[in-house]
Amino acid sequence: MAAERYWALVPAAGVGARMGGAIPKQYLDLAGRPLMAHTVEVLLAHPRLAGVMVVVSGADTWWPTLKLSGGDALMSTSGGAERCHSVVNGLAALAGAGAGAGDWVLVHDAARPCLREADITRLMDELSGHAVGGLLGLPVRDTMKRAGANGAVRKTVSRDGLWHALTPQMFRLGPLRAALEAAVAAGGVVTDEAEAMERAGHTPRLVEGSPDNIKVTHPADLRLAALYLEGQQKDRS
Ligand code: CTP
Ligand code: MG
Repeated sequence: MAAERYWALVPAAGVGARMGGAIPKQYLDLAGRPLMAHTVEVLLAHPRLAGVMVVVSGADTWWPTLKLSGGDALMSTSGGAERCHSVVNGLAALAGAGAGAGDWVLVHDAARPCLREADITRLMDELSGHAVGGLLGLPVRDTMKRAGANGAVRKTVSRDGLWHALTPQMFRLGPLRAALEAAVAAGGVVTDEAEAMERAGHTPRLVEGSPDNIKVTHPADLRLAALYLEGQQKDRS
C-alpha cells in the first residue's frame, strides 16, 4: 500500500467577535508572538504533514506581516462567510495544490495555539486504516444542566458519552469536500467537519486529546493559553 499523505488546513478567516478586540484574535499577542504563529508552526514542524493551507479573510492585512518560514509547504487562500465556507475554499485550494481525493486533511482552528505534536501523531495513528476518519475530543467532566429562561435549571443531562469536539478533525479530502459542499448547498451551516460527515451518513471516531488544546474564544482564554504554552515549553526543556 502506498504511504498515506496528510495535509493541514487552518481556518483563520474569522473576526473574533466574542473576543471583542480591535484586531482578529488569531493575531493577538500570545507569549510574544501573534497567536496564530504558534498554531501554524506546530503543524509545519510535524514530520508527517506534507503542507499547511491557511485560510485567511480577503480583508486580512496582518497575514502577510507574519512572515512564517514554511517555504512551499506553507500556502494560503481566502475564506468565506462562515467557518464551513472557509474550509470548503481551503479544500479546493489544497486540491489545486496537488492533494489527492484520498489524502487525509487535518482541519485545525487557527484559534487553538496549544496543540501538541503528540496529539497530531495520535490522531493519525489511531485513525490509520479507519474508513471515515475522526476528531480529537475530550470527555465532559462537569455535571451538565439543560437551562431554560433566566438560568432556570430544567434538568440534569447525563454526561455519559458526552464529549467536547476539538480539532484537528481528520478526514479524506474527497469525502470531506463532498460532505461540506452538500451541507452548504442545502443552505445549512455546519459547525465542524465531523457534523458535515455525520449529515452525509458517515460515522467519525473520537480520539481523546489533551485538555490544553483550548480554543481561544474569550479574553480570559488568552491567559490560559499563555500558561499552557509555558508549561509545554518547560516539559520540553
Ligand atoms: N473561521 C474562519 N472563517 C469564518 C469564521 C471562522 O476561518 N468565516 C475560523 C476562525 O478564524 C477560527 C476558527 O474558524 O480559527 C474557529 O472559529 P471561532 O473560534 O468561532 O472564531 P471566530 O469566528 O473568529 O470567533 P467569533 O465566533 O467569536 O466571532
Ligand atoms: Mg465563530
